Amino acid sequence: MIPRHVAIIMDGNGRWAKKRSLPRVFGHKQGVKTVKKIVKAADSIGIKIFTIYAFSTENWKRPQFEIDVLFSLLRQFIKKDLKELSGCGVKLRILGDLSKFPENIIKEIKAACKIMSKNTGLELNIALNYGARQELIRAFKKMAKQGIKKPTEEIVSSLLYTIGQADPDLLIRTSGEFRVSNFLLWQIAYSEIYVTDKLWPDFTQHDLKEAVAEFQRRERRFGGICDKSSTGK
Ligand code: IPE
Ligand code: IPE
Ligand code: MG
Repeated sequence: MIPRHVAIIMDGNGRWAKKRSLPRVFGHKQGVKTVKKIVKAADSIGIKIFTIYAFSTENWKRPQFEIDVLFSLLRQFIKKDLKELSGCGVKLRILGDLSKFPENIIKEIKAACKIMSKNTGLELNIALNYGARQELIRAFKKMAKQGIKKPTEEIVSSLLYTIGQADPDLLIRTSGEFRVSNFLLWQIAYSEIYVTDKLWPDFTQHDLKEAVAEFQRRERRFGGICDKSSTGK
């Protein structure tokens, strides 16, 4: 079975550049190229929802110069690459709090979301200024405001950025780090986790297929028992 929803923590841009004695931002530039390639690959494999972690609520700790370059790469991505992806039927959703972003970027993102909302292909979620704890606090505040006294899993899910979308079946992290770095904490409760040593700029369509193949070898039990011959005795 092809995983319906795949989420990726795109990590290792800085190390990719460092390995080549280049400034970190060159890694980000190369990383954006990988994004376009892998989104197309995800679509062609048959993945329906694809979530990429682009900027976390903790990434503001980075030097201002690096943040500025990331914003300028984001603008280029919206103008050029999103247009192309939209042509392939990709639908866009942003996960995260955009209010801290420069005004021009907010406008461009909103315009892209609007244009792409008519598309019916791959659902692309880009996590921008995203933090799972921030997302959950936002949901709890909404519950308090709506006077919800008896929260259920369905209610919480409906108050997250991913409202209406199935949870990730597969979570991939590149660059060999075994941590989730405040990504989709609620939604990955039962995701299969796949870590690869590949640095994000080096990640290929083949690597994505490899991750999907590994997912297909896993036995998902969701707390139950999968062995059909078992009588439970
Ligand atoms: C991931 O690459 C991109 C962002 C977090 C924006 P990094 O910039 O974290 O690269 P490393 O982990 O330092 O190699
Ligand atoms: C996670 O990568 C965030 C993104 C990929 C956007 P980081 O590089 O920020 O995570 P840590 O600091 O290694 O946990
Ligand atoms: Mg990193």
